[in-house]
Parts: sequence; structure tokens; C-alpha cells
Amino acid sequence: AGRLLAERHRRHRLAEPLLPARFDEEEAAQGEIETVWRKDGAAGAVALRGGRLVGYLVGAPADDEVWGANEWVELAGHAVEEAEVVRDLYAAVAASWLDEGRSRHYAVVPATDREVLDAWSRLCFGQQQAYAISEVTATPWPAGVRKAEPRDVDRIVELAPLLPSHQRLSPVFSGHRPAWEGDTLRAEVEQDMATDTIGNLVAELDGRVVGNFEVVPVELSSMHTGLARPERSCYLGFAITDPEVRGSGAGLALTQASFAWAHEAGYESMVTDWRVTNLLSSRFWPARGFRTTFLRLYRSIP
Ligand SMILES: CC(C)(COP(=O)(O)OP(=O)(O)OC[C@H]1O[C@@H](n2cnc3c(N)ncnc32)[C@H](O)[C@@H]1OP(=O)(O)O)[C@@H](O)C(=O)NCCC(=O)NCCS
Repeated sequence: AGRLLAERHRRHRLAEPLLPARFDEEEAAQGEIETVWRKDGAAGAVALRGGRLVGYLVGAPADDEVWGANEWVELAGHAVEEAEVVRDLYAAVAASWLDEGRSRHYAVVPATDREVLDAWSRLCFGQQQAYAISEVTATPWPAGVRKAEPRDVDRIVELAPLLPSHQRLSPVFSGHRPAWEGDTLRAEVEQDMATDTIGNLVAELDGRVVGNFEVVPVELSSMHTGLARPERSCYLGFAITDPEVRGSGAGLALTQASFAWAHEAGYESMVTDWRVTNLLSSRFWPARGFRTTFLRLYRSIP
């Protein structure tokens, strides 16, 4: 299975060279598979042709509070020699998931492999979340953006909930509630602001803060792990602008400042992610040069 995943990753890196090179090696790839295989409740299947391994798939439950009664095929959770084999592998594992009442299925799939994506879509899986990457190059600091200061805390706490509330609207309909609300949010904002390795940036218009982006070391992301975590990479993990100023340049300036901050901090790449159904972010990030690396697909039965 390590061989299959290393082969998949090498193909993926031909399309997206910023992905980490270390998983080109079978041993490192195998380590990722072992990690998913050791998760509580993990189950999987292998496909054989003439005694030769031509595919594997491993899934495990994630937090039911967040994802419902779920099973996840993670970043390293499958690799196949022929796309069509994905459908046999899923068929072999999914029956036991359903028997246990676990009917929400997630699969993270390389975005550049159209045939494998097509095979998943013919299993009724659709695009939920995009993971993306961009190189970090020298970028001039834009006008109107600065690092956040303690005097900005109240306004940041006011702006932050606009992100989850936007995600609850049509056509995202995300039921996901962030862990931070009220005092927890304030404490987190204050803590991030006091951390040198975090870039907490605000855009101002006529003396008022109208947007807030945050860039953190990629190691703080629980989504961009393993095959999706290059070295010397940072994570654009939070972005909001005041709905009243959207479309007037605050987001552009904050993105530019994020890259300027990241370059000064010595990062070589930046990752981010978005709900594919979020009309604003799914159009905004690709236009800023982010290239989709992985897609999280979702199927709910019925
Ligand atoms: C995504 C988001 C941060 C972008 O911020 P924004 O303030 O709308 O960004 P801008 O105004 O700088 O840019 C938006 C568009 O207006 C354009 N624009 C900016 N200034 C402009 C101007 N003066 N005249 C005409 N167009 C302009 C930009 O080029 C961009 O269009 P493009 O992507 O087609 O190039 C914002 O839409 C938002 O907060 N969305 C809700 C929360 C969210 O989804 N966050 C991201 C989660 S992953």
C-alpha cells in the first residue's frame, strides 16, 4: 500500500510541485497509511489482481459532534492503480459502515486526478471542501493594512462570528459551530495577538477596522497534515471582511499583506482551504493564485 500511495503522491507532485517531496518515498508514505489504520474504529479493504495489490482504502470515524455519524477516508486513506477500483473498494467497506448506522461519508482526494474524482462522483460523492496552496514570494506591504494591536480586540471579536454566520447561509448551509464564542473567542484573539509566530492582520478604512486575516504556522492546522503539509509552509487560517465593504479591495489588501508577512517570516508556501459551496471564498482564493491540491468529497446516505 505504501508503494501505491508513494506512486499516487509522485503523480500528484508532477501537477503540484509545492506538495512535500518526502512522501515520494514508499516508507514515508506507508507511515501515513499506518497512522490512519491505527485510528479507533478504522476499517479498510484491498483490491488484488492476479495476487498483486492494485488498490487500498481505509476509513475511520472522526468526531461525531462535528461531522454527524461519519466515516472519513483521510489524505492517505486510499490509492489505486486504476480509478474504477475505488468503487469496488468503497463498496466493500461501506456496507459495514451503514450497518453501524454511520451514514455520512467523507473522502479526501487529490484534486488533480480527474479520473479518480470521477470514480468517486459515480459513487454519489460531491465536492465539500477545497485545500489549496500558493508559493510565497516577496510582496510589497499594501496601504491600509497593519498588524493587529490590543486596541483592535473588541472589533475583531465583533467581526469573527461573521465567518461562521456566512457559512450557515445558502448555499453553504454549514451546521458547523466553531469552538470559539464569547469569552473563548476573546481569549483566543488576545493569545494569538501576543504570539510572534502568528500574523494577525487588520485592514482599516477611514480609521475603522473592516477586515481581519490570520496566518499561522501550518503545524497549527489539523486539516493540512501529512501529504498536504509542506515544510516551511504557513496557513491562512482565518479571513473575514465587513459585508459593507466587500468588493472594494479590503480582502485584496489583506491577502497581499498576508503574503508580505509570510515572506518576511521566511515561509516558502502558504496553504488555505474553503467550502466549495461558499460563493465568495471559492471564487476569491483561486483568483489570488491558490491552486486546489485536495478535495474533500462528501456523501450522505440517504
Ligand atoms: C472572501 C472575502 C474575505 C474577500 O474579501 P473582500 O473584501 O470581498 O475582497 P475584495 O473587495 O478585496 O475583493 C473581492 C472582489 O472585488 C474586486 N475588487 C476589489 N476592489 C475593487 C474595486 N475597487 N473595484 C472593483 N472591483 C474590486 C476584487 O478584484 C475581487 O474580485 P476578483 O476575485 O474577481 O478579482 C470576503 O468576501 C468575506 O469575508 N467573505 C465571507 C467570509 C469568508 O468566506 N471568508 C473566507 C473563508 S475561507
